[in-house]
Amino acid sequence: MNNKLFDRFPDPTPTFDCIRPLVEDWLKHYQKSITNLLCQPDDWLIINRDLNGRVRLLLPERFQDNEHSPICYGLAAGLMQKLGRRGYPPKAAILFESSRDQALRGAVSYKIDYKPFPKVWLADRLASESNWTCIAPESAGVPRIVFYSIKGGVGRSTALAATAWHMAQAGKRVLVLDLDLESPGLLSALLKTDRQPQYGITDWLVEDLVDNGAAVFKSMVATSDLALDGEIYVVPAHGAIHGEYIAKLGRVWMPKVQADGTREIWSARLERLLKQLESSVEPDVILIDSRSGIDEVASACITDIGANLILLFALDGSQTWNGYRLLFEQWQHAQVAEQIRERLKIVAAMVPELERVSYLEGLRENAYSIFLDTLYDEIAPAPAISTETPEGWSFDEADEGAPHYPLTVHWNRGFASLRSLHGRLAGIDTLEVQSIFGSLIDGASAIVGPKEAL
Ligand SMILES: Nc1ncnc2c1ncn2[C@@H]1O[C@H](COP(=O)(O)OP(=O)(O)OP(=O)(O)O)[C@@H](O)[C@H]1O
Ligand SMILES: [Mg+2]
Repeated sequence: MNNKLFDRFPDPTPTFDCIRPLVEDWLKHYQKSITNLLCQPDDWLIINRDLNGRVRLLLPERFQDNEHSPICYGLAAGLMQKLGRRGYPPKAAILFESSRDQALRGAVSYKIDYKPFPKVWLADRLASESNWTCIAPESAGVPRIVFYSIKGGVGRSTALAATAWHMAQAGKRVLVLDLDLESPGLLSALLKTDRQPQYGITDWLVEDLVDNGAAVFKSMVATSDLALDGEIYVVPAHGAIHGEYIAKLGRVWMPKVQADGTREIWSARLERLLKQLESSVEPDVILIDSRSGIDEVASACITDIGANLILLFALDGSQTWNGYRLLFEQWQHAQVAEQIRERLKIVAAMVPELERVSYLEGLRENAYSIFLDTLYDEIAPAPAISTETPEGWSFDEADEGAPHYPLTVHWNRGFASLRSLHGRLAGIDTLEVQSIFGSLIDGASAIVGPKEAL
């Protein structure tokens, strides 16, 4: 091959994805020396990956003395040599820190998943606040159900509106939040223009930065005229007059810094808003329309607000599965899968009218293979004669209760290319909603509790 084209480029340096494997090779190669160095119970070693994706070592201050520092710099040199421009010059390759907590502050940290190194961490510094790996525990209050999809346009908001409609018909008080702030739409589905509230979530998040949330709080919730017996309370992304929406949107993600210097990240502010809404509206269930894809808002909806059920909308195609795979792998690598996997449930979106059964089988197979590779535990086959159930969290492909086993939403001509979802829902009946969204509604209702049958 003619490589002349590339002659003017300098020697290749490892790409970002080579860092972890190179670090693991280095750890294995120097296993004995590193184990000897980290001999005290409180010792630690952090592989720090900075904002530019360059690596250096963080070590306890006690290693700065004449006895240890040559060993440390010798080890670091071995790693820096492998990393090229992804590392630092030998003299700058180590930072000594007073404590491990101090060294990990502001970083996403993972334990290195390699048994001989119980004292080694990888610390990742990201430019964004969200990292998808800090998983808030499930909310103990009103059930929160998040409607999410890795790809947009799969009927997520429509399905949420239909679920809210059905739950309200059954007498529930349903609180609906449009957190698809960058592409708001749910508002038009559930509210007629004359019922829109003055403000929305974006206004509250911006006002809260200057402690002025109360000025908009009372005027950011509206009730939908679609509910007959119960209520649907809608909190839109923006109000009837959207104002300088883009200027506000650019400030939504801001952390709030208090007078004493404490920092509250934006998803913690969102959680505070949810709590306030919970206590003023007193809903039976909260339905949240999340942003699709892997951005900050989606991360907040899925990992930060204690969702009890996370509905993962999926079309059966490689774009969907590649997207879910990379998300699940992130949880697997960060060793947080256990904290979130029981709350996940796949939803087969817009299931086609033709060859429905074989389509669903294919989708289920693809979903199963990803869950098996990433989030389910590997279970060793049980001995031929054994009464014990194998340990671990995993499922058969055909287990309907498993996260990979899809709830379904059917493609329906009457919902395709709608001019007004509000108009469509105003004229619909329970049987029709059941026939299109029934499986999803039953799955979502199961976590709302047995107060009344839904
Ligand atoms: N079950 C369905 N059958 C047929 N068409 C549907 C169905 N659900 C939604 N649609 C149509 O698909 C389009 C996208 O729906 P919707 O806005 O609900 O998707 P979404 O996933 O929320 O999209 P976005 O990512 O843009 O927010 C709309 O034109 C809608 O009318
Ligand atoms: Mg939508």
